[in-house]
Amino acid sequence: MKLYIACDHAAIEMKDEITAYLREKGHDVEDLGINVGEKIDYPVAAEKVARKVVADNTSRGILICGTGIGMSIAANKVKGVRAAAVSEVYSAKLTRIHNNSNIICFGARVIGIETAKMIVDAYLEAEFEDGGRHAARVDLITKLEENF
Ligand code: RB5
Repeated sequence: MKLYIACDHAAIEMKDEITAYLREKGHDVEDLGINVGEKIDYPVAAEKVARKVVADNTSRGILICGTGIGMSIAANKVKGVRAAAVSEVYSAKLTRIHNNSNIICFGARVIGIETAKMIVDAYLEAEFEDGGRHAARVDLITKLEENF
């Protein structure tokens, strides 16, 4: 599964550490920036990952800013994105199983690097519980997106 990661200037160190961590574990991670010395507004970074993820529905995205919230709000404006901002492992796992989220967001000013690693592990190991009540609810989300 291809992974896309990006951050704003609040989270460069965490983005680099998570990228290295995931690559060491064998994941195919494309780093869409930014890098040390650069600045970016979080909606711009969110759009980069969102576009990649909706173009390939087998891929997943990781967005990191100060809180994770701005990234999730922005990414969710892109049709086909279900981005979740989380700060702990339980939500990271459940947002895959229940919401079929395709982008996970978190905040470098909110959680530490070890929690961030646990979050990405839980997120990437979990699978959407397809075919039942959760799928019907995700379909309702898609309908909302189509209607507005
Ligand atoms: C940048 O200072 C900060 O606003 C951003 O990283 C993020 O926390 C927004 O949600």
